[in-house]
Amino acid sequence: TRKPVGIIGAGPAGLFLAHLLHRQGIDSIILESRSRADVEGTIRAGVLEQWVVDLMNRMGLGERMMREGHFHSGITLRFHGESHHIDMAELTDGKRVTVYAQHEVIRDLIAARLEDGGEILFGVSDVHLHGIESDTPRITFRRSADAPVEEIACDFIAGCDGFHGPSRQAIPAAVRQEHQIVYPFGWLGILASAPPSHHELIYASHERGFALLSTRSPDVQRLYIQVDPKDDIANWSDARIWSELHSRLEDKSGWSLIEGPVFQKGIIAMRSFVCETMRHGRLFLAGDAAHIVPPTGAKGLNLAVADVLVLAQALTAFLRRGDEDGLNGYSARCLRRIWRAERFSWYMTTMMHLNPNESTFEQRVHMADLDYVVHSRAAMTALAENYVGLPMDIPA
Ligand code: FAD
Ligand code: DHB
Repeated sequence: TRKPVGIIGAGPAGLFLAHLLHRQGIDSIILESRSRADVEGTIRAGVLEQWVVDLMNRMGLGERMMREGHFHSGITLRFHGESHHIDMAELTDGKRVTVYAQHEVIRDLIAARLEDGGEILFGVSDVHLHGIESDTPRITFRRSADAPVEEIACDFIAGCDGFHGPSRQAIPAAVRQEHQIVYPFGWLGILASAPPSHHELIYASHERGFALLSTRSPDVQRLYIQVDPKDDIANWSDARIWSELHSRLEDKSGWSLIEGPVFQKGIIAMRSFVCETMRHGRLFLAGDAAHIVPPTGAKGLNLAVADVLVLAQALTAFLRRGDEDGLNGYSARCLRRIWRAERFSWYMTTMMHLNPNESTFEQRVHMADLDYVVHSRAAMTALAENYVGLPMDIPA
């Protein structure tokens, strides 16, 4: 088989890319190692930047999101028992915070892609990249563990296979520069059957550690607490989780958290990571394959979509008109936005979490940062414009 673009990974990056290329009349195939049910069932990010919402609507993919998503005009920062509202819409000319879970986005994109006749192979194994320095890179794989090896010849390979995928490793180590911070804390996240405790997200910085109140639907709530990333989820009974959530989230106003049965829980580690370059020959990395942000700024999914928007434009210019500028500028153009998102995610993370390895000096600076951000309109505006998403040109 031959395809203009071979995409590895059916996460947000791979699926958005396939749709964007299809809109330009460019065919692709997606190879995904997990089953469709797994991909559609994995609980991850929750917040979409305003331009991603606009893009989904522009692409005709936003119907369910507009119906079932939650649109908030602001968020609350809570510390020292006090609550401070950040009115994002007022500070950013009407941009909002949209809560619509990543796996719902994924479900919508997979359904629409298959309906358009697009090819997504789920459950493949043994994915290998070949000849990325040539004009005809190839991907070999098996449709299932004991199926024969097949090969797809491509003009380009898009490595959208997340942090642990094979694509980044296919770039020779000598031309790859990697930058990383591994944080000494992680997030324990739960889904609970309960009504919303508040009409917007609450980010809390507390002497016992960070906590976050988010939502999924009128009956399902999403909550997180900072924990040791090496801790075992078995050590966390529902009662212990609720007790920490109450301590960290409640303020002096008498507001209280509504509990409900926990039906999903897990612990994730946190890192900041950037791979420079994002391109080698005919291989282009996008999304988590090239960079990781800690979740505090809610940037991970949004950044993956930003990459493939740039990539789709670059591939279209080359495949349609032979114009190579977009391909040559891909890495630098993406990395500018990525470093700003890395900066914001690192700022939100270090400001809001308790880091046992930090000096009391650094801890006091984070408290001053919080104090400043809720009392200075300039600082608050800076937080808001990053949170709702820095400007991104979206195609008509
Ligand atoms: P992914 O979504 O990781 O997709 C990559 C795909 O490639 C996967 O489906 C994978 O199965 C597939 N793949 C991997 N290896 C192969 C292979 N060898 N062959 C074929 N396919 C392969 N961000 C936030 O903003 N807020 C959050 O709360 C948040 N929570 C998160 C929780 C977890 C547990 C994780 C892991 C991430 C979280 N993120 C969060 C980050 C966000 O979900 C990611 O940034 C986003 O999924 C990136 O999309 P992607 O398409 O680049 O990669
Ligand atoms: C959610 C996740 C985040 O990382 C965040 O900053 C806000 C909300 C969520 O899963 O709802």
